[in-house]
Amino acid sequence: MAEANVAGNEEELKPYLVVDVKEMSKRADALRAQGKRIGLVPTMGALHLGHLSLAIAAKNECDVVIVSDFVNPTQFAPGEDYDKYPRTLDADLTLLSQIGADYVFAPKPSDMYPDGFDAKVHIGGVSQLLEGEFRPTHFDGVATVVLKLFNISRANVAYFGQKDYQQVQVVQKMVDDLNVPTTIEMLPIIREPDGLAMSSRNQYLSSEERKEALVLNEALAEAETLIRGGERDANVIYAAMRAIIERAPSAKIDYMHIGDPKSLLPLERVAGNVVVLLAVRIGATRLIDNRIVER
Ligand code: PAF
Repeated sequence: MAEANVAGNEEELKPYLVVDVKEMSKRADALRAQGKRIGLVPTMGALHLGHLSLAIAAKNECDVVIVSDFVNPTQFAPGEDYDKYPRTLDADLTLLSQIGADYVFAPKPSDMYPDGFDAKVHIGGVSQLLEGEFRPTHFDGVATVVLKLFNISRANVAYFGQKDYQQVQVVQKMVDDLNVPTTIEMLPIIREPDGLAMSSRNQYLSSEERKEALVLNEALAEAETLIRGGERDANVIYAAMRAIIERAPSAKIDYMHIGDPKSLLPLERVAGNVVVLLAVRIGATRLIDNRIVER
């Protein structure tokens, strides 16, 4: 276990690792009582620069940064990658120590979901389409754990990446509809130099698949070029995107979607600001990406 976690040294050594739900809440209460503004970065660990950009923003805007590092079982359906999802807590702690995060909250599943746990946060509308169609139980799991994390950490602000665009809209809707006193900030997608959106799941790709995965960003770039060039017919844009994606021999499209940036409802004709979203399987790895086109 990384040295940064030795109990009692939290003044000198950051981040301080908290594994106990009650302890995290107690500490957060004490921080709020001191008037501290708490920034939460919810993650499932396996941190990359995308997560770190969120933690850096939290560091700049808040007095205290809590990064949660928890692979949430309830957002994975049977047969998905819960068991093989990378768990790299020591490396995550080292990265977070470099940017001065204050706390890492890494609870056990049995502490988050003790025997008898029987609650579920279900958001309608925006959670039903796209990822909701392909992963019908996913957003119930996300909304439930995110609300728990907000409550445990007493977060004033929570930071999410645009990469999971639909997730951010679902969380925002939960906050609006349930009057949750946490402000949501969405920060831009961080990409590899060749354009692939950073994701903990990229490590599942073979080197050949890694090259093929570039078609997601290329298709989104083409969509943006067409929209900016005046194309309004979504089907024409989908056809151009499909032609690019099909250059990758192992690519299978789950969806291509042009939608309203907030409700995500599909648009047959592009009007005003839109978001273009994609889910593509490259071999056995399912990747998502998106692009906001503002006009
Ligand atoms: O985006 C993620 O990593 C997860 O869905 C989140 C928000 C940490 C909830 O488990």
